[in-house]
Amino acid sequence: MVIFLLSSKNSHSARTIPQMATKLPPILLVVFLFLITGVQIATTDEPIPSPWQHQFHALLFMNYSGDLSMIDLWYDWKNGRNFNIIQEQLGGITYDLEWNNGTSFIYSLDESRSCRSAQLEVGILRPNWLDGAKYLGQQHVNGFLCNVWEKVDFIWYYEDVETKRPVQWIFYTGREAHVMTFEVGAVLEDEKWQAPLYCFNKEKKNLSSREGGLREFRGYKEKAIL
Ligand SMILES: *[C@@H]1O[C@H](CO)[C@@H](O)[C@H](O)[C@H]1NC(C)=O
Ligand SMILES: *[C@@H]1O[C@H](CO)[C@@H](O)[C@H](O)[C@H]1NC(C)=O
Ligand SMILES: *[C@@H]1O[C@H](CO)[C@@H](O)[C@H](O)[C@H]1NC(C)=O
Repeated sequence: MVIFLLSSKNSHSARTIPQMATKLPPILLVVFLFLITGVQIATTDEPIPSPWQHQFHALLFMNYSGDLSMIDLWYDWKNGRNFNIIQEQLGGITYDLEWNNGTSFIYSLDESRSCRSAQLEVGILRPNWLDGAKYLGQQHVNGFLCNVWEKVDFIWYYEDVETKRPVQWIFYTGREAHVMTFEVGAVLEDEKWQAPLYCFNKEKKNLSSREGGLREFRGYKEKAIL
């Protein structure tokens, strides 16, 4: 390819070659073209993270500096909704429900009947939210060989090389999510997505950015990076 370009340049139609290139001695032009194609090969070789499945259920083991919790994550892009059901270790359950119109509710179903809501400019995470992440190579994590990416100093994401399933991610805050189960296509029944009445009838309390199961994602979306 390079040889062909050079010989066609030398034989005729020199005026069609850009000025910069014609000023280069042929040997430099070869190096120049080689570098360009070399760089292209290097970047296209790098793996990219799999887009999120449009519907899945994952059980996440969370560790935030020793505060442990389990999260039932129901990601449902098709229906424009996302649910984190958070069980604190030996503690209460918090329901963190997000709709693609930007409305979020965080509530409990116990006697406290608490509910806070937020209205964001953006909806739930898009399936391709990892696009543009920087590839960092491979690493063994809890016995799984993973490809590792970092996105805008916000998240470090580990995906199993073989199955392409997420194995863990770590937020910039140090909060770790370890993926314990990952069921593609699992959908939570519609009734379970209904926020309780007390989310609607009393004066709404606004959600602080420090609340919620995967609260870093909320901060990330608020910055509207995507
Ligand atoms: C949770 O993370 C801390 C570090 O932040 C670590 O020392 C601890 O061992 C972890 N706990 C579990 C159960 O993984
Ligand atoms: C967004 O959708 C949810 C679920 O249908 C609804 O409860 C909420 O009021 C909607 N928010 C807005 C701002 O329309
Ligand atoms: C909650 O946020 C909305 C919109 O940002 C604002 O208009 C409202 O005053 C806030 N309410 C409280 C109680 O802070």
